[in-house]
Amino acid sequence: MMEFLELAKQRHSVRKFSPRPVERHKIEQIIEAARVAPTAANRQPVRIVVAETEEQRAKLSGAADTYGAPLVFVACANETQAWHRPLDGKGTSDIDASIITDHMMMEATDLGLGSVWICWFDPAKVREAFSLPADLEPVNILAVGYSDQSPANPNRHAEQRISAEELVIALPLS
Ligand SMILES: Cc1cc2nc3c(=O)[nH]c(=O)nc-3n(C[C@H](O)[C@H](O)[C@H](O)COP(=O)(O)O)c2cc1C
Repeated sequence: MMEFLELAKQRHSVRKFSPRPVERHKIEQIIEAARVAPTAANRQPVRIVVAETEEQRAKLSGAADTYGAPLVFVACANETQAWHRPLDGKGTSDIDASIITDHMMMEATDLGLGSVWICWFDPAKVREAFSLPADLEPVNILAVGYSDQSPANPNRHAEQRISAEELVIALPLS
Protein backbone atom coordinates (compact mmCIF):
# COMPACT_ATOMS: atom_id res chain seq x y z
CA MET A 1 0.00 0.00 0.00
CA MET A 2 1.28 3.44 -0.91
CA GLU A 3 1.97 5.97 1.79
CA PHE A 4 -0.66 8.73 1.81
CA LEU A 5 1.67 11.63 1.06
CA GLU A 6 3.17 9.74 -1.85
CA LEU A 7 -0.34 9.13 -3.22
CA ALA A 8 -1.28 12.80 -2.72
CA LYS A 9 1.81 13.95 -4.63
CA GLN A 10 1.18 11.48 -7.42
CA ARG A 11 -2.44 12.60 -7.90
CA HIS A 12 -2.98 15.13 -10.64
CA SER A 13 -5.92 16.35 -12.64
CA VAL A 14 -6.66 14.12 -15.60
CA ARG A 15 -8.48 15.70 -18.53
CA LYS A 16 -8.01 12.95 -21.11
CA PHE A 17 -9.53 9.57 -20.38
CA SER A 18 -9.40 6.13 -21.94
CA PRO A 19 -12.86 4.82 -22.90
CA ARG A 20 -12.13 1.71 -20.77
CA PRO A 21 -15.01 1.38 -18.30
CA VAL A 22 -14.29 1.48 -14.58
CA GLU A 23 -14.91 -1.90 -12.95
CA ARG A 24 -17.96 -2.21 -10.69
CA HIS A 25 -15.90 -3.13 -7.60
CA LYS A 26 -13.86 0.06 -8.04
CA ILE A 27 -17.02 2.17 -8.33
CA GLU A 28 -18.27 0.55 -5.13
CA GLN A 29 -14.98 1.26 -3.34
CA ILE A 30 -15.12 4.92 -4.37
CA ILE A 31 -18.68 5.18 -3.04
CA GLU A 32 -17.59 3.46 0.19
CA ALA A 33 -14.81 6.05 0.62
CA ALA A 34 -17.46 8.78 0.34
CA ARG A 35 -19.75 7.00 2.79
CA VAL A 36 -17.16 6.85 5.58
CA ALA A 37 -16.05 10.47 5.20
CA PRO A 38 -16.70 12.74 8.17
CA THR A 39 -19.32 15.50 8.05
CA ALA A 40 -20.03 18.25 10.56
CA ALA A 41 -21.85 16.84 13.60
CA ASN A 42 -22.19 13.65 11.53
CA ARG A 43 -25.28 15.15 9.89
CA GLN A 44 -24.41 13.58 6.51
CA PRO A 45 -26.44 16.07 4.43
CA VAL A 46 -24.78 14.63 1.32
CA ARG A 47 -25.91 12.56 -1.65
CA ILE A 48 -24.04 11.39 -4.75
CA VAL A 49 -25.29 10.97 -8.29
CA VAL A 50 -23.31 8.27 -10.11
CA ALA A 51 -23.45 8.57 -13.89
CA GLU A 52 -21.84 5.56 -15.50
CA THR A 53 -23.90 4.75 -18.56
CA GLU A 54 -23.54 6.70 -21.77
CA GLU A 55 -27.16 7.81 -21.44
CA GLN A 56 -26.62 9.11 -17.90
CA ARG A 57 -23.45 10.95 -18.84
CA ALA A 58 -25.10 12.41 -21.92
CA LYS A 59 -27.54 14.18 -19.63
CA LEU A 60 -24.61 16.30 -18.42
CA SER A 61 -23.64 17.53 -21.87
CA GLY A 62 -24.27 21.24 -21.98
CA ALA A 63 -24.11 21.37 -18.18
CA ALA A 64 -20.41 20.59 -17.66
CA ASP A 65 -17.29 19.54 -19.52
CA THR A 66 -16.41 16.19 -18.00
CA TYR A 67 -13.59 15.53 -20.46
CA GLY A 68 -15.11 12.33 -21.83
CA ALA A 69 -14.70 10.50 -18.53
CA PRO A 70 -16.51 7.15 -18.43
CA LEU A 71 -17.62 7.70 -14.83
CA VAL A 72 -18.96 10.90 -13.30
CA PHE A 73 -19.94 11.60 -9.70
CA VAL A 74 -21.97 14.63 -8.67
CA ALA A 75 -21.54 15.37 -4.97
CA CYS A 76 -24.63 17.14 -3.66
CA ALA A 77 -25.58 18.57 -0.30
CA ASN A 78 -28.67 19.81 1.46
CA GLU A 79 -27.93 23.03 3.34
CA THR A 80 -31.09 22.69 5.45
CA GLN A 81 -29.86 19.35 6.81
CA ALA A 82 -26.29 20.52 7.39
CA TRP A 83 -24.89 21.66 10.70
CA HIS A 84 -24.86 25.43 11.23
CA ARG A 85 -22.43 27.15 13.56
CA PRO A 86 -24.57 28.84 16.22
CA LEU A 87 -22.29 31.88 16.54
CA ASP A 88 -22.68 33.11 12.97
CA GLY A 89 -25.02 30.64 11.28
CA LYS A 90 -22.41 29.40 8.80
CA GLY A 91 -23.62 26.15 7.25
CA THR A 92 -21.26 23.34 6.34
CA SER A 93 -22.95 21.76 3.32
CA ASP A 94 -20.23 22.83 0.85
CA ILE A 95 -17.55 21.58 3.23
CA ASP A 96 -19.35 18.27 3.76
CA ALA A 97 -19.81 17.77 0.00
CA SER A 98 -16.16 18.62 -0.56
CA ILE A 99 -14.77 16.17 1.97
CA ILE A 100 -16.74 13.33 0.38
CA THR A 101 -15.44 14.49 -3.02
CA ASP A 102 -11.88 14.50 -1.72
CA HIS A 103 -12.30 11.01 -0.24
CA MET A 104 -13.60 9.78 -3.60
CA MET A 105 -10.79 11.48 -5.50
CA MET A 106 -8.09 9.98 -3.31
CA GLU A 107 -9.70 6.52 -3.35
CA ALA A 108 -9.85 6.71 -7.15
CA THR A 109 -6.14 7.61 -7.17
CA ASP A 110 -5.36 4.67 -4.89
CA LEU A 111 -7.25 2.40 -7.29
CA GLY A 112 -5.04 3.52 -10.20
CA LEU A 113 -7.69 5.79 -11.70
CA GLY A 114 -7.38 9.35 -12.93
CA SER A 115 -9.82 12.08 -11.98
CA VAL A 116 -10.56 15.76 -12.17
CA TRP A 117 -12.58 17.81 -9.72
CA ILE A 118 -15.00 20.14 -11.52
CA CYS A 119 -16.84 23.18 -10.20
CA TRP A 120 -17.23 24.88 -13.59
CA PHE A 121 -20.71 23.65 -14.37
CA ASP A 122 -24.20 25.03 -14.78
CA PRO A 123 -25.96 24.10 -11.52
CA ALA A 124 -29.45 24.61 -12.96
CA LYS A 125 -28.70 22.25 -15.85
CA VAL A 126 -27.12 19.64 -13.54
CA ARG A 127 -30.22 19.78 -11.33
CA GLU A 128 -32.46 19.36 -14.34
CA ALA A 129 -30.35 16.54 -15.81
CA PHE A 130 -30.79 14.37 -12.73
CA SER A 131 -34.12 15.75 -11.45
CA LEU A 132 -32.51 16.78 -8.17
CA PRO A 133 -34.94 17.90 -5.47
CA ALA A 134 -34.93 21.67 -4.88
CA ASP A 135 -33.10 21.42 -1.54
CA LEU A 136 -30.27 19.27 -2.91
CA GLU A 137 -27.51 21.42 -4.37
CA PRO A 138 -24.92 19.99 -6.77
CA VAL A 139 -21.63 21.17 -5.25
CA ASN A 140 -18.83 19.28 -7.01
CA ILE A 141 -18.44 17.03 -10.00
CA LEU A 142 -15.72 14.38 -10.01
CA ALA A 143 -14.91 12.91 -13.41
CA VAL A 144 -13.14 9.55 -13.12
CA GLY A 145 -11.62 6.98 -15.44
CA TYR A 146 -8.41 5.43 -16.67
CA SER A 147 -5.99 8.17 -17.63
CA ASP A 148 -4.96 8.61 -21.23
CA GLN A 149 -2.33 11.22 -20.49
CA SER A 150 1.18 10.90 -19.10
CA PRO A 151 1.48 11.01 -15.30
CA ALA A 152 2.45 14.33 -13.74
CA ASN A 153 5.75 14.68 -11.93
CA PRO A 154 5.15 14.00 -8.22
CA ASN A 155 7.76 16.67 -7.42
CA ARG A 156 5.99 19.38 -9.45
CA HIS A 157 4.55 20.98 -6.31
CA ALA A 158 7.92 22.68 -5.70
CA GLU A 159 6.91 25.06 -8.52
CA GLN A 160 3.15 24.61 -8.66
CA ARG A 161 2.28 25.26 -5.03
CA ILE A 162 3.09 28.00 -2.58
CA SER A 163 5.83 27.14 -0.10
CA ALA A 164 5.15 25.83 3.39
CA GLU A 165 6.48 29.15 4.71
CA GLU A 166 3.88 31.03 2.70
CA LEU A 167 1.14 28.54 3.53
CA VAL A 168 1.63 28.64 7.27
CA ILE A 169 0.88 31.97 8.88
CA ALA A 170 3.68 32.70 11.26
CA LEU A 171 2.32 33.78 14.61
CA PRO A 172 4.22 36.47 16.44
CA LEU A 173 6.02 35.09 19.47
CA SER A 174 4.41 36.39 22.63
C1 LIG B 1 -12.64 23.15 -5.96
C2 LIG B 1 -12.00 22.79 -7.26
C3 LIG B 1 -12.63 23.11 -8.43
C4 LIG B 1 -12.07 22.76 -9.67
N1 LIG B 1 -12.78 23.00 -10.82
C5 LIG B 1 -12.25 22.61 -12.00
C6 LIG B 1 -13.01 22.74 -13.21
O1 LIG B 1 -14.14 23.20 -13.20
N2 LIG B 1 -12.43 22.32 -14.37
C7 LIG B 1 -11.18 21.78 -14.41
O2 LIG B 1 -10.71 21.41 -15.49
N3 LIG B 1 -10.42 21.62 -13.28
C8 LIG B 1 -10.95 22.02 -12.09
N4 LIG B 1 -10.23 21.82 -10.93
C9 LIG B 1 -8.88 21.22 -10.98
C10 LIG B 1 -7.79 22.26 -10.60
O3 LIG B 1 -7.62 23.18 -11.64
C11 LIG B 1 -6.49 21.50 -10.29
O4 LIG B 1 -6.70 20.61 -9.22
C12 LIG B 1 -5.33 22.44 -9.93
O5 LIG B 1 -4.99 23.25 -11.02
C13 LIG B 1 -4.09 21.70 -9.46
O6 LIG B 1 -3.66 20.78 -10.43
P1 LIG B 1 -3.51 19.22 -10.10
O7 LIG B 1 -4.89 18.72 -9.67
O8 LIG B 1 -3.09 18.57 -11.38
O9 LIG B 1 -2.53 19.06 -8.99
C14 LIG B 1 -10.79 22.13 -9.70
C15 LIG B 1 -10.17 21.80 -8.50
C16 LIG B 1 -10.76 22.11 -7.30
C17 LIG B 1 -10.07 21.69 -6.01
